[in-house]
Amino acid sequence: MDEDDAMEKATSIAELKKFFKDFTAAEAPGRIEFLGNHLDYNGGRVVGTAIDAIVCALAKPLDNNKVRLFSETFEDAVIESTLERLDRKEGREFWANYPIGILKVLQMEGLAPPSGFELILTTDLPQSAGLSSSAAVELATALALLQLGNHNLKKDELARLCRKAENEFVGLPCGILDQGVSAHGEKDHLVIIDCSKEHFETVPMPKQTEFWIFDSGIKHDLVDSLYKTRHRECLDALDCLRKNHPELPFLAAATIPMLDSKQLPGKLKRRTRHVIEETARVDKAVKLLRSGGAPHEIGTLLFESHESSKALFENSMHELDFLVESLGTCHGVLGARLTGGGFGGAVMGWTTKQFSKSSAEKVADSYKEKFGYSPKVHNFKASDGARAIDPLKKPMD
Ligand code: GLA
Repeated sequence: MDEDDAMEKATSIAELKKFFKDFTAAEAPGRIEFLGNHLDYNGGRVVGTAIDAIVCALAKPLDNNKVRLFSETFEDAVIESTLERLDRKEGREFWANYPIGILKVLQMEGLAPPSGFELILTTDLPQSAGLSSSAAVELATALALLQLGNHNLKKDELARLCRKAENEFVGLPCGILDQGVSAHGEKDHLVIIDCSKEHFETVPMPKQTEFWIFDSGIKHDLVDSLYKTRHRECLDALDCLRKNHPELPFLAAATIPMLDSKQLPGKLKRRTRHVIEETARVDKAVKLLRSGGAPHEIGTLLFESHESSKALFENSMHELDFLVESLGTCHGVLGARLTGGGFGGAVMGWTTKQFSKSSAEKVADSYKEKFGYSPKVHNFKASDGARAIDPLKKPMD
């Protein structure tokens, strides 16, 4: 670098520093659901990992009560409001419900910033791909705003509060998986959540394994999708089973003999069977993960999980089934399954290093041949969870 270049760099860094001086910042990762499909809101155990793609939130206090939201992801997306008028947004402004929901929950809990503020959201996390960009927005926003009010929250509390915003303000009856994994993620680790107790722990990822995401590009619009229907069906199944088993605490605690109940209609029987068998698969996988068991045995459980989502929970699609089948024929693939809510979104391939970029391209090519367009392919690493960052240091790392 010559002297002029060095001067120019120093000036731009100084300008950046000046610009960011008043900002607090935080980042939160997306997540991959490793195993435990639709178990979280049924009181089961789920396993996920935080990934190396994030949402970053920058917040700056204002000396009035205005709230100004900007997301780099949406064109012309500036939303202005006040601390007292936090209305729900519809249509192209819908994204703002996530930060507004967080602010509302912070207000309810007495943790809101003391004045108005400006919030900027920016991301490298693919949207609508079943990687939970919404939870990442919630956690990054919450951490940035908490700093404005000099508040600190434990990871468990942070996840609980963000889920509350999604359940009560955005209106999705999701479980704690997305927010829990984004909060508790750890480099090279999987996060195990016992959703009945909201207990979180991490286990090391089996060595030399990787995650590949194949995003079908089919819009994973959870809010408008069949997610709520599945959630309702699970609650209905629980009500039916409780007629004979009033002590049953949640659906994931049901057992196979209970399926004989005449009270349970066929569709609800399928949903319940998925929940019971998926719970057993998670139990096996957790044991194997804790004891350093063979990765291919865990991988088999992932394939079985997909079959169950397809046949019993009925939240898969041809495109996702095709990706899982193609991955099943590839060298180096330990397991594959849909990840997240389903009804579109992405398939996760869990692989050894033998599965390479060119293997992934072959899968994408065969998908293109069948469906006429390519899926988006990403290779992610198990990464750290949400954290506050120093906006003065981070841009220069
Ligand atoms: C979405 C929800 C989660 C979970 C998964 C399915 O990601 O946000 O809470 O229910 O679907 O396992």
